[in-house]
Amino acid sequence: MLKTIIFIVVSYLIGSVSSASVICNKFYSTDIRKYGSGNPGSTNVLRVLGPKPAAMVFAADFAKGFVMVLLGKLVGGESLALLSAIAVVIGHDWSIFLGFKGGKGIATSFGAILVLTPKVALILFVIGVVVIALSRYVSLGSVTAAVLYPILVTAFDYPLNYIMTGLVLGLIAIYRHKENIKRLMAGKENKLVLKKR
Ligand code: G3P
Repeated sequence: MLKTIIFIVVSYLIGSVSSASVICNKFYSTDIRKYGSGNPGSTNVLRVLGPKPAAMVFAADFAKGFVMVLLGKLVGGESLALLSAIAVVIGHDWSIFLGFKGGKGIATSFGAILVLTPKVALILFVIGVVVIALSRYVSLGSVTAAVLYPILVTAFDYPLNYIMTGLVLGLIAIYRHKENIKRLMAGKENKLVLKKR
């Protein structure tokens, strides 16, 4: 029990390390939360600073989810991996180091679900990329994936604890995109425009 609690706390703390804030501050002297959408995530870094830092942020956020869930699986099996997925995403989205603010958790969730449900994760990656390429709204791709995740986990006959975790991760992602959803519905969402620096 103690091992489980410690691992969940560690997952939360690792999730709380905001790659976007660290990378943008350290290498670009930029507080990313003051620019673009204000979101400390790779989409906003791409928008504000360009592809190179965005790729670094995506890789680091992805790695947080992937590594913590993989470690959770090794340390405590599937149940701990599932709890760790939720904890690392909550850390990313409500970071203790950012006054319980944070990102929207898509890259971190993708890392986590690639370990938990690899086939579903890869299908969602393809769907997300297609939606983004066609619409040029990253948020639409993210929300589409968030809605489809628990549905696909169910369709692929994963056990109930995977479906519940999928629901939680999907609902968190949708909740964190509530402003994006409002802008999408009002036709005011920011389209993806690449900026070179
Ligand atoms: O993963 C975040 C993305 O879906 C939206 O980012 O900066 O446009 O709010 P942003």
